[in-house]
Amino acid sequence: MLKAIWMSDPHFSHEGDVLGHDPRVRLDSALDHINSNHSDASFCVISGDMVNHGTQVNYEALSQLLEKLDVPLLPMAGNHDDRKLFRKILSLPDSCMDEFIQFSVSTSSGLIVCLDTQKSGSDAGELCGKRLDWLQNLLENTAEVPVYIFMHHPPMAVGLPMQDTDGLIDGDVFLDLVSNYECVKYLFIGHVHRPISGTVRGVPFSTMRSILYQAPAPRPEWNWDTFKPSEEAPNIGIITISDSDVNLQYEQFCLFEEGTRPK
Ligand SMILES: [Fe+2]
Repeated sequence: MLKAIWMSDPHFSHEGDVLGHDPRVRLDSALDHINSNHSDASFCVISGDMVNHGTQVNYEALSQLLEKLDVPLLPMAGNHDDRKLFRKILSLPDSCMDEFIQFSVSTSSGLIVCLDTQKSGSDAGELCGKRLDWLQNLLENTAEVPVYIFMHHPPMAVGLPMQDTDGLIDGDVFLDLVSNYECVKYLFIGHVHRPISGTVRGVPFSTMRSILYQAPAPRPEWNWDTFKPSEEAPNIGIITISDSDVNLQYEQFCLFEEGTRPK
């Protein structure tokens, strides 16, 4: 059995205020919770938007805080990240592509694939030919081994304003590819700051709350002009995989109020 931790969108800032929340306090709380309750996990994936602004000082402060985590870390790129600084400051598995923060990790329960869906200068995402070829090559050579994919941008609409304009461009091309391989068992998706589960082309998927701030439910309707984070507590995900069966527990690690600005 494999046990892994899934965090998403910490939007870390050394200055300590992003949309009324302190990312230092929130991430610290999540790390304490993991160390106290889940130090038996094999690794912890953070599915992108490691920092709110891709500056050296943010990555350095983030890296320093992450040192307290007792579980090996698999960090991923999102639209808020800076690839160059990310690679310079955070450690990545040896299997990582040269140009992209895209890699795979082999486990006794299957292959963990972490994609880089960042499109430079855009909040929407992309998987260019090089990244898609890398994935196709991996799936071709995987044979019977189950594959679990983590990615920042959703490849399909999920019914939220923030995603449906800022999702993965040409997500259909990605879905055409992965739905063609039975070895692909699950998609774990960041970016939307809200928990949603379903299937797409027959492949199960889940999204995750942010460590920092949450997207409101689709109703009452909202858009970027009216956007205000909902007053919901953050979650981490506890993933267990056994014989290709996936169990995802959404676990609250602090109250909504923790790390919010005094009103
Ligand atoms: Fe994002």
